[in-house]
Amino acid sequence: MKRIVAFSVALGLMLGASAFVGEAQAAKVIKIAGMKADKEPETLGMKKFGELLEKKSNGFYKVKVYPNSSLGKEDKYIADNRRGTIEMCATGTQVSAFHPAMAMMETPMMYDSYAHARRAIDGGVFDLLTDGFVEKSGLRCLNMFPLGFRHFYTKKPVATIDDIKGLKLRVPNITLYTTFAKECGINGQAMPFAEVMSSVDQGVIDGGDSPLADITSTKVYEKCPNITLTGHILVIHSLFINEKLYQKMPAEHKQWVNEAAAESADYVWKLVEEVDKKSAEEIKANGGTISEPSQAMKDHMVAAAKRTWDMFLNPERKVSYVPNAQAIFDKAASFK
Ligand code: G3P
Repeated sequence: MKRIVAFSVALGLMLGASAFVGEAQAAKVIKIAGMKADKEPETLGMKKFGELLEKKSNGFYKVKVYPNSSLGKEDKYIADNRRGTIEMCATGTQVSAFHPAMAMMETPMMYDSYAHARRAIDGGVFDLLTDGFVEKSGLRCLNMFPLGFRHFYTKKPVATIDDIKGLKLRVPNITLYTTFAKECGINGQAMPFAEVMSSVDQGVIDGGDSPLADITSTKVYEKCPNITLTGHILVIHSLFINEKLYQKMPAEHKQWVNEAAAESADYVWKLVEEVDKKSAEEIKANGGTISEPSQAMKDHMVAAAKRTWDMFLNPERKVSYVPNAQAIFDKAASFK
């Protein structure tokens, strides 16, 4: 009996895989949706993934990259990716709505440098964060790569924490970010990234915080030219693939996808510091000011960040509690 069952399973897998290959003798199109502009690390990573997958599959896969929220704002394209109408997407802690641990990718003040973050993520943090994610979301997280550390951009110069407290600042509509803003004493205005520029123009916000690459790609520095280098959160994004699609793929195709994801993340880790440097030059060349925060402001941000960590550690914070949070913090700290 066991042998008959094993044979049927093997036959089913073979037929499933060959049906998948047979389905599309012409190139199979993979659409990837993202939210950032053309030259930003997220888009560069998506494009690199596409090039690599097309090459590895000898043209079997044709990858079409849709940056800049051109397939909708992040909530919409994540839902489409889960549904399977979009094959892949790039996003970050927005997916913590399904699995709170994913917010810990961007824990404030957890990493001292890009090198520290990379060592930790590759050294086990990735596995701890994504444990159980696919079952809850229907999405497979393929990699993690940096977009940059977040810094404040504001219409008025910021010298002290009180200057920041008096401003209306945009924050992503994600529990991690709204909680951190509250702990900092910031008047956070939650909205998607795609609404930042119109909100600055309409006076709905006085600024926000973003990696330098976002500050230049949106040209928000033209309206908010004061950049304060707090570096309080390292933004990490990932490529996600619809899990049903991934499971339909033959083993060799899965391997191409996994390799292309790992190699494209490697590419972004290597270029992000250069992107920071060029972005800073562009801001300064266009009249922006980049300044270091005072020690008191830095201390305030660190203390607010540490209080924010409680959202992951405390079982009473039901929505954001992460059962393996301490293991994640310990693992990240062990790579300092
Ligand atoms: O990972 C979430 C992060 O991308 C949110 O920030 O500014 O890109 O919406 P933002």
